[in-house]
Amino acid sequence: MSVQEITLDDLNVEKFIETQVKEIKEAVGDDIAINALSGGVDSAVVTMLAYKAIGDNLKTYFIENGLMREGEPEQIVGWFKNLGVTVEIVDAKDKFFAALKGVTDPEEKREQGITQVFYKDVFADLVKQSGAKVLLQGTNFTDCEETAAGVKRQHNVFEQIGIDPQETFGYKVLEPIVQLRKPAVRAVARAVGLPGEISERPPFPGPALCARVIGEVTPDKIATVRKATVILDDELADVGAFQYMAILHDDMVTGLRDGGRDYGHQIEVRCWESTDAVTATPTELPFGTLRKLADRITTEVPGIVSVTYNVAAKPPNCMEAV
Ligand code: XMP
Repeated sequence: MSVQEITLDDLNVEKFIETQVKEIKEAVGDDIAINALSGGVDSAVVTMLAYKAIGDNLKTYFIENGLMREGEPEQIVGWFKNLGVTVEIVDAKDKFFAALKGVTDPEEKREQGITQVFYKDVFADLVKQSGAKVLLQGTNFTDCEETAAGVKRQHNVFEQIGIDPQETFGYKVLEPIVQLRKPAVRAVARAVGLPGEISERPPFPGPALCARVIGEVTPDKIATVRKATVILDDELADVGAFQYMAILHDDMVTGLRDGGRDYGHQIEVRCWESTDAVTATPTELPFGTLRKLADRITTEVPGIVSVTYNVAAKPPNCMEAV
């Protein structure tokens, strides 16, 4: 892997911003650049760096892939409106669900269901429509490292694994934060003026809730895991964990409801302590919190009869299930 990390200790935030803004300006020139904003800190920092560099020559899109959390598209567009950045929502739900239909293998989901649709279909169209010559994206150092090590194919890593996006997809990709891990990205986020709700936002994977459905991903299953995620957000936001997630299992178990058999699905809860996502340990949540989560999920999420908590550390576990 040819990319060199800039550690948080070595990071001179102001100089980093200055350098990246200059490089983006030079690379884009008078052309149009586009980027996809997911609302996570990585793509938010890239948006702000690029906006500083090229202003309205940056076209920022939120790709509504149908896999995001409750109310997320509107919330993100609102946050950035307050920062002066216009974000256009692109409805691509049907394309993603069509590509995910029948796919159960985790890596195939990422490759066929996310990467291919995102870059070859949705983005290729946007590049054509907008006349953009450059795509900016928020690949970070951990993404590259894990992809290079063959741990998990991150949805957004190209050049580090030998794919030439110009040749493969027809546009140039710039990755301004590729040398930074999350804590360094957050330091840059604060310095470019992003509010705390974005700069300190817990990570959320590019493949979104797709990473949290075991087996085939369907609109119904996404709706289920989305409802469980709202409950986790209610109950775990103040715990101070690095990240937490609800995962919908594919297998069904026998339950008992209203005096009768209720054959239903299971939600697995994970909650992580970590600094850089490279290693992680499960948060020692109080048993009362776990019981409350279980009670709420089995009552408020249709079709769920069982809730488990994952206590295995990363490694050998991973933070996301898919
Ligand atoms: P894993 O599951 O690899 O997760 O232990 C480590 C961290 O990375 C996030 N993650 C992703 N982020 N694209 C992303 O942008 C991905 O494909 C992806 N997979 C995992 C995960 O949420 C955690 O913070």
